[in-house]
Amino acid sequence: MEATALATLPPAELETEAERLFRALLHVDCEPGRQWNIDTCRRIAPLTLEINRLKREQDAVILTHSYVEPEIIYGVGDFKGDSYFLSLKARDVQAKKIVFAGVVFMAETAKILSPHATVVVPDRGSGCSLADSLTGEQLRRLKAAYPDAAVVCYINSTADVKAESDVCVTSGNVYDIVAQLPQRRILFVPDRLMGDNLRNELKRRGVDKEIITSDGTCIVHDVFDAASVAEARVRFPGLKVVAHPECTPEVAAAADFVGSTGAMMKYVKTTTAPYFLMLTECGLVGRLQVEAPEKHFIGGCRLCPYMKLNSLEKVRDALRAPRPEQIVTLDEDIRRRAARCIERMFELAPKD
Ligand code: 13P
Ligand code: SF4
Repeated sequence: MEATALATLPPAELETEAERLFRALLHVDCEPGRQWNIDTCRRIAPLTLEINRLKREQDAVILTHSYVEPEIIYGVGDFKGDSYFLSLKARDVQAKKIVFAGVVFMAETAKILSPHATVVVPDRGSGCSLADSLTGEQLRRLKAAYPDAAVVCYINSTADVKAESDVCVTSGNVYDIVAQLPQRRILFVPDRLMGDNLRNELKRRGVDKEIITSDGTCIVHDVFDAASVAEARVRFPGLKVVAHPECTPEVAAAADFVGSTGAMMKYVKTTTAPYFLMLTECGLVGRLQVEAPEKHFIGGCRLCPYMKLNSLEKVRDALRAPRPEQIVTLDEDIRRRAARCIERMFELAPKD
């Protein structure tokens, strides 16, 4: 924040904003070395005031994934949630500009669904180990090897991969959508572990499918292990273990609940237990500390290095004067083909 911009803001307005942020963030202590005390909030307040003013002036909305820093989600975000919820919002918002505080594949999805909006990302480096594991060209080669398979892509994939796929899925609807497809053989990309969980869940449901996967994994979720879950259960009787389907099948089997980040939040809010172990990025624990401060969480903190590239300063810059690399652009043919695959997801996803 420049000294000049700070100087023009009335001290009372700054203090009111700092207190608003402090009231929202006071219970958050999920990230080692970070605190959201009143001094932090006073430092942040000039930025959130400026971003919220820029949003109004530019007819912009800010979509925030639950893994980004809480001062973005609760300080300037208009919508917060998981990939499915945010893709619905990206399709439906009428704003001229969308700032996507998440990762690049999410912003690309917003551009696919709202081509007339200017879509900007705070940091172009915010990739994803899953999306970055497979190119459109590699998928074309896989498709040639399995010509009879339905091609299903997890939303954590590039626009090119979506353009080559029959239907997109998210962590919240993958099982229900794949179960409905007429083809027996499914080429599921790019998450090998979610593919393993999909195979197990469909078997449990009595749905006969052959699941072929590519070899991507999420660097945050693939390291949780079932032995640590067993140890935690001994140390914390009554513990509920909540996992994301990007975890290994062993971890999923050891959990009490497996679901999207949105479903994980709902499970914790509606479940009574002395402790919860969240096997996901710890931004989700931060959200729960804000929205369900009476719950207790155990376990360490795993950060997604890509999600954590987002900052209030970068959100402000993306709104005020976006650099070319912050503006999402897509080839129109790829965008149209990718849109078909996402719209198919909206048709097949359970409505709740
Ligand atoms: P959700 O859609 O469940 O929020 O998952 C997104 C993600 O990137 C998880 O790592
Ligand atoms: Fe990608 Fe994993 Fe980060 Fe989610 S947590 S954005 S899947 S690297």
